[in-house]
Amino acid sequence: MGKAFIRGERTLVKTRAELDTMRHAGRILAQTQQRLRELAQPGANTLFLDQVAEETIREAGATPSFKGYNGYPATICAQVNDVVVHGIPREDELLAEGDIFGVDLGVCFEGYHGDAAFTVGVGEIDAEAQRLLDVTREARDLGIEQVRPGATIRDIARAVQEHAEAAGFGVVRALVGHGIGSSIHEPPQIPNFVEKGNRAVYGLKLESGMALAIEPMINAGSADVYQDSDGWTVRTADGSLSAHFEHTVAVTDEGHWILTEP
Ligand code: MF3
Ligand code: CO
Repeated sequence: MGKAFIRGERTLVKTRAELDTMRHAGRILAQTQQRLRELAQPGANTLFLDQVAEETIREAGATPSFKGYNGYPATICAQVNDVVVHGIPREDELLAEGDIFGVDLGVCFEGYHGDAAFTVGVGEIDAEAQRLLDVTREARDLGIEQVRPGATIRDIARAVQEHAEAAGFGVVRALVGHGIGSSIHEPPQIPNFVEKGNRAVYGLKLESGMALAIEPMINAGSADVYQDSDGWTVRTADGSLSAHFEHTVAVTDEGHWILTEP
């Protein structure tokens, strides 16, 4: 496990012991996600789901990573329909049959973070909404498949973008994935799209011991987004549905290790 530099800054290559701690955070995170998946039914309010998430995490001896981060007030981000990311859970926000519901969640265990997101249908959803969920999850998994020593950020970005755009969907540009470890957001940036130039971002080579949060945000319509007046909630500009899937992944000598699965 060597040293890597981006813009003069050393990226945080983790030790095996650090990755084991992150794996523990990730397992608690995945167990919490499982409870939320079961509770994401018509009539559930998103603040209740937030409280269940916080309780589950604390009972496991961990803490919610997002709560208090830059003043964020909750444990989960609740992402209903056109909400792309950072929706604040509310007691008066009830899930309804046919909605799509995304949950983004961070867990900190002994100082190390995991970050992951999933999106599910509430009750029965229509075929086009289901296709958006499937394609976004597949795009994330294709990005993860690129992860191995010597691969670049460009390889991840290209794999995600090609899959989403081939399906006719819009890849959000305004937000990107990130490195993760003893902070929830660390270098490098991990865009879900490729741009010419910007070699500092796209040319970065992965090294064993890096940990990455890979998180495509994919819109059924245009890629454009705007921020709500609450200062947090990001929505699609055209009101179309948006899906979000994320895993925290470590680069290993053999390839990669998904830290946020059960
Ligand atoms: N998973 C989110 C991200 O990587 C983190 C949410 S930040 C918070 O952008 F402020 F909303 F907590
Ligand atoms: Co993230």
